Amino acid sequence: MSDPAISWLVVCRVEDIDEEDVLQLEYGGKIYAIYHTPSGFYATDGICTHENAHLAGGLVIGEIIECPRHQGRFHIPTGKANGAPACVNLQTYPTKIEADQIHVGLPTFPCSGSVKVQS
Ligand code: FES
Repeated sequence: MSDPAISWLVVCRVEDIDEEDVLQLEYGGKIYAIYHTPSGFYATDGICTHENAHLAGGLVIGEIIECPRHQGRFHIPTGKANGAPACVNLQTYPTKIEADQIHVGLPTFPCSGSVKVQS
């Protein structure tokens, strides 16, 4: 049964994200990061919890994202802060693959917004 508080958003095709890469998604006035790791596709908030750096500019190492600004680390599947100076976890979001497209489950917004994806 689907969660009525979640809206599934088509982000891009599977082949649009290389393994150990990350894309930035802007939707509803918020920034998210979409990852391709060896264990699958994941989504988190796109801004580092330390000092507001864009995580899409960071380095994906297995299931870890390393922030480009101060090299804080997060475990991508859980969002858990995994290396100083990052100490506040990232919010994570569900993903699914359908018809070769990556869908991300985001909180339902009162208004729809344009989708912008960039690497
Ligand atoms: S801004 Fe990300 S670790 Fe400092």
